[in-house]
Amino acid sequence: MSDITVIGLGAMGTALAEAFLNQGHKVTVWNRSPAKAEALATKGAIVAKSVEEAVRSSPLIVVCLLVYDTVRETLGPTGAALSGRTLVNLTNGTPEQARAMSGWALSQGALYIDGGIMAVPPMIGGPHALILYSGSSQAFDACSGQLGALGTSKYLGEDAGLAPLYDISLLTGMYGMFSGTLHALALTGAAGIPAGEFTPLLASWLQAMQGLLPQWAEQIDSGDHTSNVASSLGMQADAYINLVEASRSAGVSAELVLPMQSLMKRGVAAGQANADLSSLVGLLQRSKQGA
Ligand SMILES: NC(=O)c1ccc[n+]([C@@H]2O[C@H](COP(=O)([O-])OP(=O)(O)OC[C@H]3O[C@@H](n4cnc5c(N)ncnc54)[C@H](OP(=O)(O)O)[C@@H]3O)[C@@H](O)[C@H]2O)c1
Repeated sequence: MSDITVIGLGAMGTALAEAFLNQGHKVTVWNRSPAKAEALATKGAIVAKSVEEAVRSSPLIVVCLLVYDTVRETLGPTGAALSGRTLVNLTNGTPEQARAMSGWALSQGALYIDGGIMAVPPMIGGPHALILYSGSSQAFDACSGQLGALGTSKYLGEDAGLAPLYDISLLTGMYGMFSGTLHALALTGAAGIPAGEFTPLLASWLQAMQGLLPQWAEQIDSGDHTSNVASSLGMQADAYINLVEASRSAGVSAELVLPMQSLMKRGVAAGQANADLSSLVGLLQRSKQGA
């Protein structure tokens, strides 16, 4: 028997297995393409000959494959092998997929924890690798010490869908920042300004703007978006027109910035011109309900 089994040795799974090995855990590994296990074997990992053997080798099974369908395809044929074990699924997915996987694991007699990895492989094992977990608190309490080898753990609650919900929401924030950055660099680059000259200014501007988030959180939680508004939606919607027009006249595609303009217009039309930008969250939620 080993302490932990890692199934899936892509870039992330390999980093996870290495982090467990570095903490002195006895680790069994399995990957569809066996060659990816060779380097880990030289570092002390035991290479299982089949998925079932891998599952039967440890009480704690950590899975990191490409998508959830792959997890079901891979673990499905292992039959009753999962019974009595803890399955930690660190594959990226949706809250619905996590809840369905949790139900399936339970039907196999396993305890289930879903996870979201907020890190890239080289960060795994260091304090800046944040790993979000949700699902069985009983299982998390029992294995949190071992999972600590991967980075900083944050347990969110019994609902297995919470980790992917937080994961996806954090990624959404990241992609918003990346899309704004891409547009800014296209605009300045079209004017011949080197990215190396502009990005330090952009980075410090983005950092300064993060300072608004606590106020937004208060406004959203209280539902009052009109107190102490320094930059109203109406003012920002007017200034945004310049952003779109300057892009067009520079021959820079406005495809990343137009959706925000249309939401701002919708906010102004809904009578929210004097409110803060945070009031747009409610409009997004209402559009989900078909309003
Ligand atoms: N890399 C990152 O920066 C990062 C960050 C956060 C989260 N994640 C998440 O971590 C998960 C793994 O990412 P990764 O970077 O390790 O991806 P990857 O390097 O592409 O590895 C994919 C893994 O899935 C396996 N796989 C794919 N299709 C399969 C199938 N049909 N049957 C069995 N195994 C299959 C691959 O096996 P083979 O080796 O045989 O192809 C490999 O082990 C993804 O859900 C990803 O979103 C990644």
